[in-house]
Amino acid sequence: MNVQSKQPSPPMSWDELSRPPRTTWIEVSRSALAHNLGLLRRRISANTRLMAVVKANAYGHGAVESARILQAAGADAFAVATLQEAIELRAAGIERPVLVLGYTPPWQTEAALAHAITLTVLDLETAAAMHNIAAASGRSLTVHLKVNTGMNRLGVRPALAFNVLSALAQLPALQVEGVFTHFATSDEADKQHAEAQFACFQKLLGDLTAAGLRPPLAHAANSAALLTMPHTHLDMVRAGIALYGLDPDKDECKLPDGFRPALAWKAIVTQVDDLEAGEAVSYGREFIADRPMRIAALPVGYADGFPRKPNNWGSVLLHGRPAPILGRVCMDQCVIDVSAIEAQHGTVRQGDEVVIIGRQGDATITAEEASTRIGTNNYDIVSRILARVPRLYVE
Ligand SMILES: Cc1ncc(COP(=O)(O)O)c(C=O)c1O
Repeated sequence: MNVQSKQPSPPMSWDELSRPPRTTWIEVSRSALAHNLGLLRRRISANTRLMAVVKANAYGHGAVESARILQAAGADAFAVATLQEAIELRAAGIERPVLVLGYTPPWQTEAALAHAITLTVLDLETAAAMHNIAAASGRSLTVHLKVNTGMNRLGVRPALAFNVLSALAQLPALQVEGVFTHFATSDEADKQHAEAQFACFQKLLGDLTAAGLRPPLAHAANSAALLTMPHTHLDMVRAGIALYGLDPDKDECKLPDGFRPALAWKAIVTQVDDLEAGEAVSYGREFIADRPMRIAALPVGYADGFPRKPNNWGSVLLHGRPAPILGRVCMDQCVIDVSAIEAQHGTVRQGDEVVIIGRQGDATITAEEASTRIGTNNYDIVSRILARVPRLYVE
């Protein structure tokens, strides 16, 4: 047992980190977000608008600050999932158009009008109810019609879309600014289904143009289509995952060279201890030491978005090396094995920095690698990091 290593020591590098309010935190790189937006901008024509998708707390990166950074970097508009997310952006001073991608019930029309939020409409009845509320208040509500060309989640069927748009054009308190669709498989190598969806959407746009009903903004492309199907860019692209420097699909649609992941997730060691052979770690005593070990506690748990079951994260980085997680992940904490790191590379101390996503020394854990281990995708990994983990915005 190394007695010296049990002495408390000051946290390493803590002052330079401008003291986040918790001992686990996210660092979001401003320059990476702006740089990734610039790379996407170069791929679209000057006439195509770039809508930054900042729903779900900007895929975990922090919606308000990410939107401010992206607005300053030239995003033309923002997309969110709910009206509440949209109002949060307005309250923070975001002035560019904000589109709610999901269903908004008519009773939220007043709030959308008050904050100049653009709503998605999916059917004539709801749109008419919204129109009546807008008309009664003497204002005009901006809407985009969503068309279901094959995702089969949300939207009006293409066969009905023409008639719905014709009817919407008769409602003076609705300003029908956009029509859009969403791809189910643009991140796959096989583009057959995505191309069929786009052909269906193009047919509708052609019919609308011929009838003088085409709204000014037609849009379809998400990050994967922006990168791999340039003919789908139309009047606007809706980019999410690529802005954050993450692959649309880790196998079939990797980002081209040059994009930079914007997010790192870090923590500090909160306690280091010895474990004797036969002692167990954490709830349920699932891990039992078969030899004397050195262990460290971390202030990260499943209520931070650090999963417990069926698979946990596997390992984190400490002193530039992987440190395996031992036993069950708890709500706010977990325990790692630092025996090998101590044996080969010196004492581990309270306050030592741990990397959960990101780079430490020569080692990296990407959101994509974590997603493979957890059995999900990188979208899920970053967007599940809960709001209680503070976000620090760094260069
Ligand atoms: C309707 C819609 N458009 C665009 C996006 C952005 O997709 P991505 O993050 O793959 O660019 C999403 C995200 O899921 C979405 O739901």
